[in-house]
Amino acid sequence: MFRSRRKRKAIGHPDLHPDPQWAPRAVPGRDREPDPENRMIDLEDVHLAFGEKVILDGIWLEVDRGETLVVMGGSGTGKSTILRIILGLLEPDAGRVYVHGVNIVHANQEVLDEVRGQMGMVFQGGALFDSLTVGENLSFRLHETGEHSDEEIERLVEEKLSFVDLEPRVKNLMPAELSGGMRKRVAIARAVMGSPRIVLYDEPTTGLDPITSETINELINKLRDQQNVASIVVTHDIGSALTVGNRFAMLKDGHITFEGDAHAVRTTDDEYMRTFIDARMSTT
Ligand SMILES: Nc1ncnc2c1ncn2[C@@H]1O[C@H](COP(=O)(O)OP(=O)(O)O)[C@@H](O)[C@H]1O
Ligand SMILES: [Mg+2]
Repeated sequence: MFRSRRKRKAIGHPDLHPDPQWAPRAVPGRDREPDPENRMIDLEDVHLAFGEKVILDGIWLEVDRGETLVVMGGSGTGKSTILRIILGLLEPDAGRVYVHGVNIVHANQEVLDEVRGQMGMVFQGGALFDSLTVGENLSFRLHETGEHSDEEIERLVEEKLSFVDLEPRVKNLMPAELSGGMRKRVAIARAVMGSPRIVLYDEPTTGLDPITSETINELINKLRDQQNVASIVVTHDIGSALTVGNRFAMLKDGHITFEGDAHAVRTTDDEYMRTFIDARMSTT
């Protein structure tokens, strides 16, 4: 079958077959029936080991449109690994990873490219190219695909900078000239250049002062509420977690040991979750 290579198709396009076996799982603790139209991410029984070291030992997670799932856990537990699996940068050893019903495990490059085009990633530390201007950092992917004119790209860069409350002139700055908070804003602007339906954030407030963290939390919420984005936020910062999260999951020893809403977090008698919350609360 002939397929045009470059043209972006919506997820749900027949070339991106939703897996016939896919049936979105009910979210634990929620009585609403799962809606295939709204379900953007399903991880089902995902396993991954690096050599002998088991990192993920049967992970189940789900995220709907307009919802932010916060994934918490100690360092080295596999939080970033989960994000890399969802982005298709890493294949799990077993399990299914559905992005709007499309299983990306063993998917071919074309499907992976299309699915990735629906996602924005805010890497820890921003991951900007230091030798490129802010504008070039935002636009390099669009230049690569060749789908947009220079004028369109220019307009998009300014639109996305404005979305993160940065002035148009910031596009001419180099990353080294940005404060930590501005870097993070630019990283978010870059993640939303392709108007993604899913945005993944890896420790978005780590290393930022409390006031700057708050402005980043507000941006995460603005993106969810104005654009109905499905988000996953990986964080250590329990304050940030409670500000942005609709649902919360704790990753420990390869398993999700707690899952629930803010009320469930505050009232949990899960011992590890309690220790985690109390320890973090007392340091802020
Ligand atoms: N490519 C890799 N090869 C081997 N081990 C890895 C690799 N990537 C991550 N790890 C290990 O997997 C574990 C989980 O990593 P990561 O997902 O980055 O943790 P977190 O984000 O929760 O701090 C860590 O012990 C890390 O050292
Ligand atoms: Mg990490």
